[in-house]
Amino acid sequence: MKLQINPFISAEKIQSRLNELGKELTEKFKDQHVVAICVLKGSFMFYSDLIRKIDTDISCEFFGVSSYHGTSSSGEVKVTLDLTHPVENKHVLLVEDIVDTGLTMNYLKNSILSRKPASLTTVALLEKPDALKVPCKLDHVGFKISNEFVVGYGLDYEGYYRNLPFIGQVQNFQ
Ligand code: IMP
Repeated sequence: MKLQINPFISAEKIQSRLNELGKELTEKFKDQHVVAICVLKGSFMFYSDLIRKIDTDISCEFFGVSSYHGTSSSGEVKVTLDLTHPVENKHVLLVEDIVDTGLTMNYLKNSILSRKPASLTTVALLEKPDALKVPCKLDHVGFKISNEFVVGYGLDYEGYYRNLPFIGQVQNFQ
């Protein structure tokens, strides 16, 4: 892929925001056991950095969904990997990379709530408030950004750029 990527949120800025989120979540969960759900694929990097900053007992689950084609959400959410253990009566932390239209997060929240957890806390690294198509309230957000397509730190364009250590804006779409 030979797109021009302009640096937008540096690796240092991401880590310092993660320190703050880690403190907020450590405070919130205190001595509770938490099931932290990583929404694949986009949140794997955010998730692995974030859970290391939360000081409580955490078990890890992975939820695979796909809803994107190129740079626009299809609005249809397809489950590619379901949770391996029930979350009934557990405190759940749902970790998403980015909330754009809000359709995926709403789908995920409904899916988790239907399994009757003791509590559900949502966190997204990025939120594009101007792109929301459905109301979607998040408990914790890393950064609110404008309605532009971004890649890196887990986020992709057509499968690429997830390995960038920073978040960048894509300049020259074909
Ligand atoms: P939503 O359903 O429109 O909120 O889309 C959520 C999903 O779309 C996220 O989990 C991402 O995987 C993907 N997505 C949304 N915006 C972007 C972006 O700017 N870059 C990369 N992926 C994105």
